[in-house]
Formats: sequence, structure tokens, C-alpha cells
Amino acid sequence: MEKRGSFGSKLGVVLASAGSAVGLGNIWRFPTEVGNNGGAAFILVYLCFVFLLAMPVMLAEFVIGRGSKANTVGAYRTLAPGKPWIVAGFMGVLGGILVLSFYSVVAGWTLHYTVESFANQLTAGQDFSAVFNKFVTNPWKPIAFQLVFLLMTHFVVSRGVEGGIERYSKVMMPVLFLIIVVLMCFSLSMPGAGDGLRFLLQPDFSKVTTGVVLSAMGQAFFSLSVGLGCLATYASYFKKETPLVSSAFSVCLLDSLIAILSGFIIFPAVFSVPGVSPDAGPGLVYITLPHVFNEAFAGLPVLGYLFSGMFYVLLLLAALTSTISMHEIATAFIHENYKLSRNSAAVVVTLVCIVLGAACSLSFGPWSDVKIWNRGFFDLFDFLTAKFLMPLGGILITMFVEWYLDRRFVVEQLTNGGTLKVRCLSILLFLIRWVAPIGVGIVFLNEIAN
Ligand code: PHE
Repeated sequence: MEKRGSFGSKLGVVLASAGSAVGLGNIWRFPTEVGNNGGAAFILVYLCFVFLLAMPVMLAEFVIGRGSKANTVGAYRTLAPGKPWIVAGFMGVLGGILVLSFYSVVAGWTLHYTVESFANQLTAGQDFSAVFNKFVTNPWKPIAFQLVFLLMTHFVVSRGVEGGIERYSKVMMPVLFLIIVVLMCFSLSMPGAGDGLRFLLQPDFSKVTTGVVLSAMGQAFFSLSVGLGCLATYASYFKKETPLVSSAFSVCLLDSLIAILSGFIIFPAVFSVPGVSPDAGPGLVYITLPHVFNEAFAGLPVLGYLFSGMFYVLLLLAALTSTISMHEIATAFIHENYKLSRNSAAVVVTLVCIVLGAACSLSFGPWSDVKIWNRGFFDLFDFLTAKFLMPLGGILITMFVEWYLDRRFVVEQLTNGGTLKVRCLSILLFLIRWVAPIGVGIVFLNEIAN
């Protein structure tokens, strides 16, 4: 049996896991949700969920992954042989493929917008809503960009854990951070930025409805990539010295920080243009922003062009470090379970995602009438993962760790065999045992009932 890959350094562990977490979820979905759900109050609720519900699930995934040193399915086979828990593993593999299929559609749009920005095609005076609709409904173009993006993902994953995932994350994450800081300085210096800041920083608790609470929790799960065994797969490549608790905490902190900083890029810019509303929905990044870039830099178009180009590169890098991790769930499973080489396993996953991904892309255009349970493919896959597989996975994963696994084994993983002093260990175990499964369960039932 060939030697299993592993991450080479602690920094690599945090950057690769944070790379998985930081993605379109932070830079595209988070500002959209903040805009739709009233701003600062939503952010506070969101942060509570990140640390009280999503972080415990992440820790549970880390315990399962490093404790078994196997892919998500293999993990349950090793830790609970012959028991039905393995279903959670298969749900993760399926979920990873479904997320990758619809997520790569949006990543493909981003690639297109990057190219258009640098070719200086997103110029003033156009109806950006019509431009966007024309592109996404085209039968071929979005699929072509999506294909290129999937091949980029394939390239990194097929290079392996240390030489691919870790190596590229270590370059892409710092670049991403740098772009965020530069864009934020740009954005904050715009006239009218103060209104954007107020929107982000002054909570109005009258806006916190049940719907807002549910959205905040869904966002926390999606943004931290938990519930599908994605981080369990990454944790299976951790070394025995990797500190699980502090790594999970760093990833949650980095992910929240980047989501909030994205808000600091987008809202000051949006509020600097009169008449543009912050609750534009999913079109915010592709319809509202090109307009904002043009208006805000009307006197200096070169800056507008630079700003928008950098913004879409940022989105692209963030998407890529996440799609790698989705791809890895199924690649690791096929590679280890069916004894295929890593490369062939990656080819299988990429081919499946190209086919399913094309169906998702077509659901915006020629296949917009094809509905399953009243949803097109894109919406269906989004719904099945974010609203169903991820929360259900979160419940099963935390229950497995706290109710099935031996408490000593869990503590041994969290403290690296007693060599690490973990403050608040009993609080963390309490969160994993009770708070996470019950909290997620309540939200899940609410979603199903609607
Ligand atoms: N966390 C990623 C994001 O915020 C999305 C993701 C979901 C990644 C599930 C992996 C698994 O964009």
C-alpha cells in the first residue's frame, strides 16, 4: 500500500483548511445574506453560530479524520466497523460531488468576469443585468468557463496532498489576504463609505426574525465547509502533533474575518453610489458591482478597471481553494476504497462533476423548464446540500463522536494524547454532545417544515 499523504506543517494545515472554508461562501454569499437580512444584527447572530454550532462540528470532523487516518467512508469503517454510521460517510461523498457541481457554475461565471474585467469589457453605460442574463442563459459559454475551472481544480488535486493542496493553498491564501486588504483600503476611501460602515456595524435587533436566524445558521455551516466530511478528509492528513482545537479555532477566526472584510469591501462601495440597494440578492457581485466600479471610479476609469479585475481574481482564488477540498472528499474515497491510483480517482470525480455541473449550468438557460421537485438542477443541488446533507451530516457527525466513540479516544485526539493543555475542554465536549446536534436539529426541522 502506498504511503498516505500528509500536510507538512502546522501553517499548511491551517491554510489548507481555511482555504476550504474561505470561498464564494464568504465573498459572494455572505455579503448577499448580510444585505438581505439587515446588516450588523445578522452578523452578530452569524458569529454566535460559527463558534457555538459550526466549530464543534469542525472539531468532531477533525477527531474522526485524524483518529482514523482514512477518507470519510473509510473513517466510519475503521472506527465503527459494520455499523450504520457509514451512511454519514456516503452522504459526505455524495454531498461533495453535488456541491462541486453547482459551485463550479458560479466559479465559471467568476472566471468569465475576471477575463472580461481585464479585457476592459465591463465598461460604463451597459445594462449589467442584461449582460449577466445573456451570459448565464447561453448554452455553451458558461459551460466552457466552468470546464476550465474544473480542470484547474483537477490539476491541483491530482498533484496530491502536500505537493498539490498544501503547496497551492500556501501561495493562494496569502495572495487572497493581500488583495482583500488592498481592496478594502480602496473601498473605505470612497465618498459615502460611512453609510456602508454604519450598515455593517450598527446592529438593529428589530431586524432579527426567525428567518434571519435560520439563514445565519445555514451560512455558518456552508461557510465553514462542515457536515460533509470535507474537513474530516483533510484531518486524515494531519500529523499526530497537529493541535486540533487551536487549528479549528484559527480556521473559524480566519473565515469569519474574511467574510466580514468582504463586507467592508462591498458595502462602502455599494453605498457610495446613490440609488444602489444593498439587498440586490445573488446578482450583487455580478450585476451591482460592475455598475458600482464604473460609477465610483468615473473620473479615473483605470482604477475602476484595476479594482474590478482584482476583485474577481480574489473571488476566483477563494473558489479554487474550496473546490479542491470538495473534490478531495470523493477522490480520497475512490482512491482508497477501489484501489485506483490517485490520478485515476481524480479523473473519475472530475468527469462526473463535468456532467452534473453542465446540467446545473443549463438550468439557467435551455433547461430552465426541467424541474425536479419544482427546482432546476442548480437550485436542487444547492437545496439538497446546504439545507439537507450538510445539517443532517452535522447532526450525525457530532452524535457519532460524542455518543458512539469512546470519550477517552476523543479526549486523546483533542489533547494529542495528553501532551496539550486544552482550556475549556469540558465546554467544548458539551457543545459537541448537546448544543450542536440539538441546535442544528431544530434548524433542520424548521427548514424541512417550510
Ligand atoms: N466553505 C466553502 C465556501 O465558503 C464552501 C464549501 C462547502 C467548501 C462544502 C467545501 C465543502 O465557499
